[in-house]
Amino acid sequence: MKSLLTLGRQPKLGIAELESLFGAEAVTPFGAQAVFLDVEPEHVPFARLGGSTRLCSKLAQLPSPNWPDIRDYIAKSIPEQEHYVPEGKLTIGLSVIGVKTSIKDIERCLLTAKKAVKALGRSVRIVPNKQLELNAAQIIHNGLTNTNGWELVVISDGQNAWLSQTVNVQDIEGYAARDQARPYRDARVGMLPPKLAQTIINLGASSLQPTKQLLLDPFCGTGVVLQEASLMGFDVYGTDINPRMVEYTIGNLHWLREKFDVAGEYVRIELGDATKHGWQQPINVVACETYLGQPLMSLPNSEHLSKIIYETNLINHNFIKNLAPQLKSGTRICLAVPAWRGKHEFLHLPMLDHLTELGYNRVKFVHASNSDLIYHRENQVVARELIVLVKS
Ligand SMILES: C[S@@+](CC[C@H](N)C(=O)[O-])C[C@H]1O[C@@H](n2cnc3c(N)ncnc32)[C@H](O)[C@@H]1O
Repeated sequence: MKSLLTLGRQPKLGIAELESLFGAEAVTPFGAQAVFLDVEPEHVPFARLGGSTRLCSKLAQLPSPNWPDIRDYIAKSIPEQEHYVPEGKLTIGLSVIGVKTSIKDIERCLLTAKKAVKALGRSVRIVPNKQLELNAAQIIHNGLTNTNGWELVVISDGQNAWLSQTVNVQDIEGYAARDQARPYRDARVGMLPPKLAQTIINLGASSLQPTKQLLLDPFCGTGVVLQEASLMGFDVYGTDINPRMVEYTIGNLHWLREKFDVAGEYVRIELGDATKHGWQQPINVVACETYLGQPLMSLPNSEHLSKIIYETNLINHNFIKNLAPQLKSGTRICLAVPAWRGKHEFLHLPMLDHLTELGYNRVKFVHASNSDLIYHRENQVVARELIVLVKS
């Protein structure tokens, strides 16, 4: 296993995304928050991974998962390894994941290492921890992935512990720009976070596409999925029933091309009711956030909720029924569909029980179950359930 990735708020989403792109055998979950990947860090397309927060290269297995052993190892190895960093001031940060320790302990360990490095005649600065794990902003703003920086990451699953070094971290500013700085946004159609759009695309893509592929989003809204797909190099095709949304997507994709380096070349956006539309061929991948029904601030009474589920299900059901004969067998699809957080469990779209009859096989992941693939935030009534299908 050549790389280590730390995972986002819902780690299983990040694991399924990696499994989808690299295959189950290349992926080994490690503890609750990390995964080993059998791909060299320089070959991991980190910028397109929505579910991973950091990409690290593996340095060494640590002597034990206990902090005193880890602390002694780190305090000793930093001065031994400092000459690998080019001349100039060295900046060091340390994140500790899955090991019992404290911010004070981390500080003490780094101060010991700092003294030893200074004694070698080198100037060094340490980044103070606010938590046991540094956040992306601290890593970026302190230049810890630059040539004169080091973010060391200690990670344990309780039995083993590894030391690794961060080579890339989530581009938080890029995500914010692609989300909040877009000229056309609409709170009523929901705000799909760009990171989640990336995960949806990667679950639908199934591998790193070697040639140009056309990705269809039949519920394109303001165009977040198409934006992220264009940046990954897909040609994109979007449709929506609402003429305003068609205009918004066109405007946002124009803006994207002006501001970012867009690898995808082809763009086609048109008006279309996904339950009836005939799409231009060929379609290689379908990835979208479908119609989610009305936004809800609290769980409605059961009669009202049944009505919402019925109406939402009808549109989603008629959409995948209309889509099936238009896809070649083997075409992969990832749909983010609504699931409602009931009192005890999630309530799912009834159409999910009829996927086989509708012409699809649901993809099963080795390292994540279907119930792991529900994106939700605390207090959110309408969650997004990610359904990965292959046209039979
Ligand atoms: C949850 S929003 C998708 C938001 C989108 N991911 C974005 O980036 O803004 C659902 C979209 O489905 C569209 N829609 C609803 N019913 C539709 C239908 N029958 N056919 C096509 N689009 C539909 C709505 O206009 C809305 O833009």
